[in-house]
Amino acid sequence: MKLVVAATGASGALYLKRLLDHLDPAEHEIHLLFTGYARQVWREELGDMPFPQGCVEHGEKCMNAPFCSGSALFDAMVVIPCSMGTLGRVAAGTSDNALLRGCDVFLKERRKLVLVPRETPWNLIQARNIVTVMEAGAHVVPACPGFYSRPQTVEAVVDTVVARVLDYLGIANPGTFRWGCEPDASKVAAARSSGGSASPPDLLEGRSGQESDPPKTVQNSKNCPHEPGSGAS
Ligand SMILES: Cc1cc2nc3c(=O)[nH]c(=O)nc-3n(C[C@H](O)[C@H](O)[C@H](O)COP(=O)(O)O)c2cc1C
Repeated sequence: MKLVVAATGASGALYLKRLLDHLDPAEHEIHLLFTGYARQVWREELGDMPFPQGCVEHGEKCMNAPFCSGSALFDAMVVIPCSMGTLGRVAAGTSDNALLRGCDVFLKERRKLVLVPRETPWNLIQARNIVTVMEAGAHVVPACPGFYSRPQTVEAVVDTVVARVLDYLGIANPGTFRWGCEPDASKVAAARSSGGSASPPDLLEGRSGQESDPPKTVQNSKNCPHEPGSGAS
């Protein structure tokens, strides 16, 4: 894939790092752009950790970057983390630096643009800007980690957001936790030995079939958060 990955001065430099950790530069052509504030936040949050290597790097002011023109073919652009300032400028279509021009181009070309904003709480201007960019075609993945996978490290927490970005890009992420799809074998064994409910073995059986088998329907709605009416997301 040919990707643009851009970072802004929102908190969450680790989101950028973990996304890049999941992208093999030998497999993907990655064009990287930092705003000035993104570099400041990286240092604030990650200290001496070296800036990412292995990508084609572009300056914020460099309108010669290929993704500043729709004629250069790219698959997707991700702004991670995305400040509310940058998101507002994308919504306004200011296009006055390479990052903003890239976003403008991806929207006009109907290419995948993923924005990962990090802010809380929101004011009404920010909420309206989010609606505006969504209406224009951006995919907004707020940096709101999930905890139902019981992440044990900060990286694992961050990865709950990064996984949603990779899914949208269509990039395989076999290590990610998927509710109802990856039962914890030790819990299944414990449930079996204690004569527990049939749900965990049901899940295991669902995985043990041939790859071409249709997925089994799990009846217990507690184990099916994506079933209509379960209210989970
Ligand atoms: C340590 C630090 C943390 C910040 N966290 C956020 C944040 O989480 N969200 C946000 O929208 N702005 C945050 N900001 C403010 C942005 O950096 C600021 O609005 C800046 O103008 C964004 O510019 P940029 O979008 O060009 O990078 C933070 C700034 C600093 C120094």
